[in-house]
Amino acid sequence: MTAPKVQLSLRGIRKSFPGKAGPVPVLDGLTFDIYERDFVSIIGPSGCGKTTVFNVIAGLLEPDGGTMMFRGEIVPGLRGRVGYMMQKDLLFPWRTVLQNVMLGLEMKGVAQGEALDTAREYLSTFGLSGFENAYPKTLSGGMRQRTALIRTLIMDPDILLLDEPFSALDYQTRLYLEGVLLDAVETFNKTVVLVTHDIDEAVALSKRVVVLGNRPTKVKAVHDIGLDARSPVGARSDPRFAEYFHTLCGELDIQTRARAA
Ligand SMILES: Nc1ncnc2c1ncn2[C@@H]1O[C@H](COP(=O)(O)OP(=O)(O)O)[C@@H](O)[C@H]1O
Ligand SMILES: [Mg+2]
Repeated sequence: MTAPKVQLSLRGIRKSFPGKAGPVPVLDGLTFDIYERDFVSIIGPSGCGKTTVFNVIAGLLEPDGGTMMFRGEIVPGLRGRVGYMMQKDLLFPWRTVLQNVMLGLEMKGVAQGEALDTAREYLSTFGLSGFENAYPKTLSGGMRQRTALIRTLIMDPDILLLDEPFSALDYQTRLYLEGVLLDAVETFNKTVVLVTHDIDEAVALSKRVVVLGNRPTKVKAVHDIGLDARSPVGARSDPRFAEYFHTLCGELDIQTRARAA
C-alpha cells in the first residue's frame, strides 16, 4: 500500500488569548497531519481549544507560533479553501432554503441559471426537493443541518471543517445525517475534519481520530480506525467498535468502571 499523501500539516501551532492575569495559553504546540481524502475526527474535553484549531486552520485566527503547510507549501491559513460549518447552522432566516444554498455561488459570481441547476441537484441528493421555498424556521433541525451542509459542500472546498454539526440533534436524526455525510464525502471526494464530543460518532465515521488533552492542549494520541463498514450503523455493529470506544474513553479519562450499586 502506498503511503497516504499529506494534504494539510500542522506543526507546533500555538495560540494564547488575553486573560485578566496575562495571556491564557490554549493551543500548546499542536502537531498533526490530515491526508488527502482523510476523515479525521478531533475529540477532546470541552474548552480545550477544538474550535480554536478550526479558526486557525480556516485563517480566521492567526496563531502565535508554529507552521501550517497545505500540499507542501507554508500557508498562513486556508482562507478560501475550506468549507467551515459551525455548530449553529447560521442559516439566514430571511432567505429560503434555495436562497441560503445559492448564497455562496452568487457571491462567487456564478451565473444565476447555473447556480440554480447546481443548487437543485444538491437539494435533490440531500432529500430536500420540494422545500426550496421553505424558510429555515419552518424546517426540522435535521433539515436545517442538511441545508447548512449543502451550503458548505456546494462551494467545492478542498477541506470540510465541521464543528459539532450534529450535536443538537436527536440520536436517530444524527445517525441518518452521519450516513448522508459519509455518502456525500464519498461522492464529492472530500477531506473532512470533524470536531465532535461524541466518541461513538468519531469512531463510527472516521479513518483517524486525533485526541486532544486539557488546556493548554497538545495532541495526546492519534488512532487509526480500521472499521470497514461504510455506514454509521454498520460501524457501530462491528465487534471492534467497542474496543476503539473503550480506548478513546480511557484517553479522555472518562470513567469506564460501572458505578457501585
Ligand atoms: N476569541 C477568544 N478570545 C478569548 N478567549 C477565547 C477566544 N476563543 C476561545 N477562547 C478561549 O479558548 C478556550 C478554548 O475555546 P474553544 O476553542 O472554543 O474550545 P472547544 O471548542 O474545545 O470547546 C476557552 O477557554 C475559550 O474561552
Ligand atoms: Mg467548540
